[in-house]
Amino acid sequence: MLTISNLHVKAEGKEILSGVNLEVKPGQVHAIMGPNGAGKSTLAKVLAGYPFYDVEWGTIRFCDKDLMELEPHERSKAGLFVGSQYPLEVPGLSNREFLFEIFKAHTGEKSRDRFEVALAHLVKQQKIDPSFLDRDLNAGFSGGEKKKNEILQMGLIDPKLAVLDETDSGLDIDALKQVASNIRSFLRPDKSIILITHYRRLLDYVKPDFVHVMTDGKITATGGFELVEKLEAHGYAPC
Ligand SMILES: Nc1ncnc2c1ncn2[C@@H]1O[C@H](COP(=O)(O)OP(=O)(O)OP(=O)(O)O)[C@@H](O)[C@H]1O
Ligand SMILES: [Mg+2]
Repeated sequence: MLTISNLHVKAEGKEILSGVNLEVKPGQVHAIMGPNGAGKSTLAKVLAGYPFYDVEWGTIRFCDKDLMELEPHERSKAGLFVGSQYPLEVPGLSNREFLFEIFKAHTGEKSRDRFEVALAHLVKQQKIDPSFLDRDLNAGFSGGEKKKNEILQMGLIDPKLAVLDETDSGLDIDALKQVASNIRSFLRPDKSIILITHYRRLLDYVKPDFVHVMTDGKITATGGFELVEKLEAHGYAPC
């Protein structure tokens, strides 16, 4: 589904990703952990198509397409969803209308009624406070509410690959269980997830097939769940 080969990326003249290699197959869950500033969010943003980064070298193939040739909205329509570490607040844009726009863009379905039915189903399944829908996109939302709203968007779009950047940060104990359950219900044999996280809590609920450590812009260790336990015991220094 996703093959990243020897990816080198600079921002403002500074190299941030220094040769990332990663292969994600359908049905797999990959976790990426690593110290602050290692380049995890940069990787997520490069996948999403943020404009501030210069891809100096390397390739990214997504579902048999050259991802770098696609505009951000084309990447989204091709089935890539990137949940941001810091979701943007957009005062003046109704959350419900935003969700309707992404629903129309991804399903080709123009019916307001069908959208409302799909949204109501997700709101119930994900135990979202319906009053969120009548506020502006993320405006004044708490940290955890923004993260829940990202997962609601993911549910509505039903992408092929979800890259979730610290979706677990800021969630209370019950919300973490609920979001983990929402992520698990998204996962099917033709779907894949990359979870960027600092903590094992989410990984206890959404068991990854592979755990990677990113250090200084490279993946420096890969293993199974036992790697999470090793990191908790010894930190990143041995990686
Ligand atoms: N636009 C930019 N201009 C300059 N430096 C940048 C830019 N974007 C990222 N960086 C730098 O690149 C490095 C990697 O940042 P990134 O946000 O990818 O780290 P991270 O691994 O996600 O860290 P954290 O765990 O704290 O979220 C940091 O040193 C950051 O300051
Ligand atoms: Mg980050």
